[in-house]
Amino acid sequence: MSIENSANKIEVTVYQWSELSKAAQIAFNKAYAPYSNFKVGAAALTADNEIVQGCNVENASYGLTVCAERNCIANGVISNQSNKKIKFTALVIYTAQKKLTPPCGACRQVISEFFSKNALIRAVNHLNEHQQWTVEQLLPDAFTPHCLLNKTE
Ligand code: THU
Repeated sequence: MSIENSANKIEVTVYQWSELSKAAQIAFNKAYAPYSNFKVGAAALTADNEIVQGCNVENASYGLTVCAERNCIANGVISNQSNKKIKFTALVIYTAQKKLTPPCGACRQVISEFFSKNALIRAVNHLNEHQQWTVEQLLPDAFTPHCLLNKTE
């Protein structure tokens, strides 16, 4: 299981990264991207050690396109078996190009809702190269449920 150590650092094993990358690559192959031809796959690790996947799904109206990361998170919410809010500890974004793909601004906001600040987001490509950030690095001072005064979560 991915663990949060005493310094609040999330540790994801080499094996877990590898499983996440494989799952994200499988999701990439399912991407529906006929307009941009830019396929993206995502896979996230839940705090319960499950892996959920998502791909980008485009639309003829263009603006209704949903990114792989947000579809991945939605899949996690739907498949959550517990009655507690789903929590993710790591996310892989897979693309098949040299330039690694960081999450877009909208996805950074949605990631901030379900991942802790120290959770790890990794962009991976077909050459097995990667770049990694914490959620805090991607979106400092995010607007989260804590910002809603009457929420205690
Ligand atoms: N896209 C993602 O799925 N995730 C990202 O992080 C960046 C962009 C998708 C949206 C659209 O289908 C295509 O990539 C081109 O922007």
